Amino acid sequence: MRRPLIVGNWKMNLSLSDAHVLAKVVKNSIEKFPQIEVAICPPFPWLVPIKEELSLSPLKLGAQNIHPEAEGPFTGEISSMMLKGIAEYVLVGHSERRSHFKEDNHFVNLKVLECLRTYLKPILCVGEEKKLNLDGLTQQGIEQRFFHSKIAEEIKKGLKGVKGETWRNITVAYEPVWAIGTGNNAEGRYAGLIAHLIRDLLINIAGETLGQTVRILYGGSVNKKNVIDYALEVEIDGLLVGGASLKASEFLGICEVIAKHSKY
Ligand code: PGA
Repeated sequence: MRRPLIVGNWKMNLSLSDAHVLAKVVKNSIEKFPQIEVAICPPFPWLVPIKEELSLSPLKLGAQNIHPEAEGPFTGEISSMMLKGIAEYVLVGHSERRSHFKEDNHFVNLKVLECLRTYLKPILCVGEEKKLNLDGLTQQGIEQRFFHSKIAEEIKKGLKGVKGETWRNITVAYEPVWAIGTGNNAEGRYAGLIAHLIRDLLINIAGETLGQTVRILYGGSVNKKNVIDYALEVEIDGLLVGGASLKASEFLGICEVIAKHSKY
């Protein structure tokens, strides 16, 4: 059984003192939710001071990005090796990096493989620009449309070369681009259906046993009011939360609902 994972993506927000306050409140509260795993992804310079703050807490840390090379002349970049012992997760291929920094599937794939090589856990972010129109299609039609979508392409190319047991360290975050930061979250049923299609694709690539170990998160305008829609979808194993992760009460409200509905 997959343990639900809630990840807060702080993006380029919060001063160091605000980051400390938020991390502390989240840390002190998530001990009430042992059924779920919770991670926060602060900006790079806040990772080390927040790591010190967390010491023995179950709250995990994630980085928002890495460079695929281990070291070298890449001014301004951070390697996976440098994050060892600090972060456990790394967001890879977030749509904001794909659009603002022109990261393509090949580059994203190199990052995934570098994370795995250094035993960090990549969270591969994928999502379509425009909602897929699945209305009126047969099951076969739905599968076909999905198979030729940007979502499937980003998964197939992003996870190319992932082998054997390392599949267990993969998480896929399904984040429709049109839902990120817009307040226009995907309906639970639609996100659940896409998660189901992603699961079938992962099983197709990795085989039944390993394909079932990958956690599939939903992300895009999640808040404590709409979180219930995702909590009820069996193929959604957690959430990637942006804006709402910057407010302790929102983020903890989301964690509470997921923990309550978790069968883990
Ligand atoms: P949002 O961001 O929750 O603010 O829509 C999600 C994300 O970008 O990961």
